[in-house]
Amino acid sequence: MTTETIPMDEFPALSVEELLERVQALKKELNAVILAHYYTLPEIQQAADIVGDSLALARAAEKNTADVIVFAGVYFMAETAKILNPGKLVLMPDVNAGCPLADSCPEDEFRAFRAAHPDAIAITYINSTAAIKALSDITCTSSNAEHIIRQIPPDQQIIFGPDRNLGGYLSKKLGRDMILWQGYCYVHDAFSETYMVQAKSMYPGAELIAHPECREEVLRHASFIGSTAALLEYTQKSPSKSFIVATEPGIIYEMERRSPDKTFIPAPKDPANPRSVCRQMKQNTLERLYRCMLERKPEITVDETLREAALRPIRKMLEMSA
Ligand code: 13P
Ligand code: SF4
Repeated sequence: MTTETIPMDEFPALSVEELLERVQALKKELNAVILAHYYTLPEIQQAADIVGDSLALARAAEKNTADVIVFAGVYFMAETAKILNPGKLVLMPDVNAGCPLADSCPEDEFRAFRAAHPDAIAITYINSTAAIKALSDITCTSSNAEHIIRQIPPDQQIIFGPDRNLGGYLSKKLGRDMILWQGYCYVHDAFSETYMVQAKSMYPGAELIAHPECREEVLRHASFIGSTAALLEYTQKSPSKSFIVATEPGIIYEMERRSPDKTFIPAPKDPANPRSVCRQMKQNTLERLYRCMLERKPEITVDETLREAALRPIRKMLEMSA
């Protein structure tokens, strides 16, 4: 196995095609599987074996025959892959690609939050750290949250965190009060009503579709609300020819690939808060992907006691959404 370390300034400048070829060769050599989220760069999606939303990627991490999992996403995703696969080498192109939503829920504060509601169970979005998962009863993603909550008896109190927008959307849709942690995704929370209304009048034939991590003021103008994968499927099935897409614009690469005859307009940014691209997902560059496979690092590790505790709510999620 090659384990040489090349300092960043001596790293050879390779074309996209050369990098893609080298990544494929290393994939064979390592018996690796490359998993990538839809929000990563197009060339990362090209290099990946499986491109998916958070749920599809957790499932792919659970069921594969590879020796090495290379995760092009954000830290909690690679960490979840390691929790599911303690015996496998799990690599990440950039270990500093964290999720600010996950980081907005510190362990001590969440423990106190739970303690303040002793009768409630905690359903936690997968966008959370292993420590928060370990304090939770069930994990969920935006694809299966509704399905999971519907299985909880109506008189059972639920703590939902860390995304207040997803939690609020589900509370309203299911007519069920939940105790919400007040975190949010800066990418989705940045969209605002004024600019959605403007976009709808600028493109009258286009359907506005939105991810439930967006604020309610945006969701109320959407003709379809769903997880990244649900939005993608909707654009294929809908007879509409154009869509205003209120989610991270990385998904548009796959939307265009699947429906080349349709038009996808990224939802307009609010100039007062123009942050609707996930910087952390874009930290997964092709050079870093190649380099991490070449050097077999950075490797994701999780303390064994923490791993066992965090595995329980992930397994529960996978069972409940099978
Ligand atoms: P999904 O992949 O479940 O749509 O979640 C979106 C997201 O923000 C991932 O970090
Ligand atoms: Fe986190 Fe939002 Fe980026 Fe997803 S899009 S990784 S929730 S910051």
